[in-house]
Amino acid sequence: MAGWLEALERLARSRAKAGLSRQLRPRAAGDQVVDLAGNDYLGLARHPAVIAASAKALEGYGLGATGSRLVRGSTDEHAALEADLADWLGAEQALVFSSGYLANLGAIRALATRETLVLSDAYNHASLIDGCKISGAETVVVPHADPDAVSALLDAAPGRPAVVVTESVFSVDGDVAPLAALHEVTSARGALLVVDDAHAVGLLGPSGAGGVAAARLAGAPDVVVTATLSKSLGGAGGVVAGPAAFIRHLVDTSRTFIYDTAPPPAVVAGVHAALRVARHADDRRAILAARAELTVRRLRAAGFDVAKPAAAVLSVVAPGPEAAVAWAADCRDRGVAVGCFRPPSTPDGSSRLRLTLNAGVAEADFARALDVIVECAP
Ligand SMILES: Cc1ncc(COP(=O)(O)O)c(C=O)c1O
Repeated sequence: MAGWLEALERLARSRAKAGLSRQLRPRAAGDQVVDLAGNDYLGLARHPAVIAASAKALEGYGLGATGSRLVRGSTDEHAALEADLADWLGAEQALVFSSGYLANLGAIRALATRETLVLSDAYNHASLIDGCKISGAETVVVPHADPDAVSALLDAAPGRPAVVVTESVFSVDGDVAPLAALHEVTSARGALLVVDDAHAVGLLGPSGAGGVAAARLAGAPDVVVTATLSKSLGGAGGVVAGPAAFIRHLVDTSRTFIYDTAPPPAVVAGVHAALRVARHADDRRAILAARAELTVRRLRAAGFDVAKPAAAVLSVVAPGPEAAVAWAADCRDRGVAVGCFRPPSTPDGSSRLRLTLNAGVAEADFARALDVIVECAP
């Protein structure tokens, strides 16, 4: 075997020894698994209006966008979704990308130059971390959810352009960032605040407008919001929302917009239909809030130390990576899908089950899933 492949085999063996191998498991269409692993928080991925809108656009446009919007043309579906996203999120304008990952790369790279100081929360998602890296700017990782630490670092660099990057609801622990306090710090120092609202759009704020709206920062001229369209909107794609001049800048310069095939019109149309439902889905948000409380009560009663989720993500620490894998596998064998997060996907090096609540799961199935999680615990 060639040397480089042997080296890869050795690395795979050491990952396996540490309990850090990953496996692709088959998923059948229409499987009956109770889903506490996916991010379809509002249960919209299979909503009839979403499927109908997507099918209609599929007929009209075919499978893919067939090129970037600048080269092949910008469809009405893309423009209509962007207008409604901007309106919903309270931003001047919005631009759709083909994933949340690419939206984050594009937004941060556009905001940070080599002179910029970037401050990135220690628990930020990989896409934000990579955005900081490709910007080429000096990036300082700041303690998690700590506006005082951000303030001190900005004070130590007076006059230097600065960008502070955070999630609103954090993707593994499900806690919420102190956005209002962070914005107080950034606005007083003339810094920009980038918020990845991936796990809060559709869930927090008025009409589910997100964590930034909940913190009353929607439309602030020094705040840029990013989000994925793959979670509460049940589809795929990403969005950057902010001042019109910034969106114009992205269209002209963002490599992950310009050099990437646009998200398929059929997906965009489905996401747009999901957005229309999500804006009026206070009933689904109420179900999620009740389920969050029930989950915390049930798990605490069973002796687990779980924090109350800010939205619909919560996690339960496992004794180690192998125990987390076995716990998730036992749940799956009993028909319940849960997330299993191990290093390097966890910010603090722990291993854990991540539970993502889904308003589309039937009440009785949800109650049974909680029993299964407790009964399968290591
Ligand atoms: C916080 C956060 N940001 C960005 C992303 C990436 O979004 P996408 O899956 O659309 O690339 C994810 C996960 O998918 C996420 O959890």
